[in-house]
Amino acid sequence: MIIGGSASQALAGEVAEKLDEKLCHVETKKFPDGERYYRIKDEIAPDERVIVVQSTGYPQDENMMELFFILDTLSDMNVEDIIVVSPYLGYSRQERRFKDVECISAKATARLIQAMGAKRVISINLHEQSICDLYDIPVDNLSAMPAIAEYIAQTTEDKPVVLAPDKGAINFAKEIAEVLDTDYDYLEKVRLSPEVVETKTKNISIDNRRVVIIDDIISTGGTIVNAIEILKEQGATAVDVYCVHPVLVNDAILKINAAGADNLQATNTLKSEVSGISVAQTIAQHIKSL
Ligand code: R5P
Repeated sequence: MIIGGSASQALAGEVAEKLDEKLCHVETKKFPDGERYYRIKDEIAPDERVIVVQSTGYPQDENMMELFFILDTLSDMNVEDIIVVSPYLGYSRQERRFKDVECISAKATARLIQAMGAKRVISINLHEQSICDLYDIPVDNLSAMPAIAEYIAQTTEDKPVVLAPDKGAINFAKEIAEVLDTDYDYLEKVRLSPEVVETKTKNISIDNRRVVIIDDIISTGGTIVNAIEILKEQGATAVDVYCVHPVLVNDAILKINAAGADNLQATNTLKSEVSGISVAQTIAQHIKSL
């Protein structure tokens, strides 16, 4: 049985279809004061495996709370085999302490998700692999790169250079470039003098080439806008932007388009107007392998 939280109903439906499993009928609404209501309308046998699909991005607290309501209701139904699929796992950015006695919010949410009855967590491109260690249950950190690469292969005629906007994202670029059988690189800041910093590709020239930029998250769009401007200056013929999690705060899409992006696409780990690449197959395939 697959249960979708309100942040991931459509994705839950796709996963159910791919697994040939039933999508549970639920009722979910918000009371006038903002509190959530959740009801599971189908019968679920206690020995049935239940997969709860709920991203916990913005509004994080509300989506996280709804996830807890689903888990608590399943526990009242004596269901034990519960897998939480949270394609975008909120509160993942603080997975360690940067200053004294800060709350490690990724750890706090990990403890809550476990306490509410999850026996396994599946997510996509977690902000840090070390987040898995905050749990005492198995956590599977899947990659959306094969799905993104497949989309690029189907929609792009020229052979692009795949570029990470910084060194931290180089493995994403590598993963995509390997599928597309092309080259990859990252943007590096070089200090030319105490006053002058130049950002350029580390190893290869992008002059007269189509460039694919790949990052895990686009939030304000600042990182990508900066990259697009530099790449266009350096002679890229086109710049296509891809990311896994389209957090897209405020007018990020507008800023990216205004900077000259030729394409902007993301996966549906979060709902957005550019979430055209589905991770349903990635999730379903993994669940089949368990
Ligand atoms: C950083 O660790 C991430 O990989 C992204 O580069 C970052 O979250 C993007 O943020 P923004 O869109 O606000 O520049």
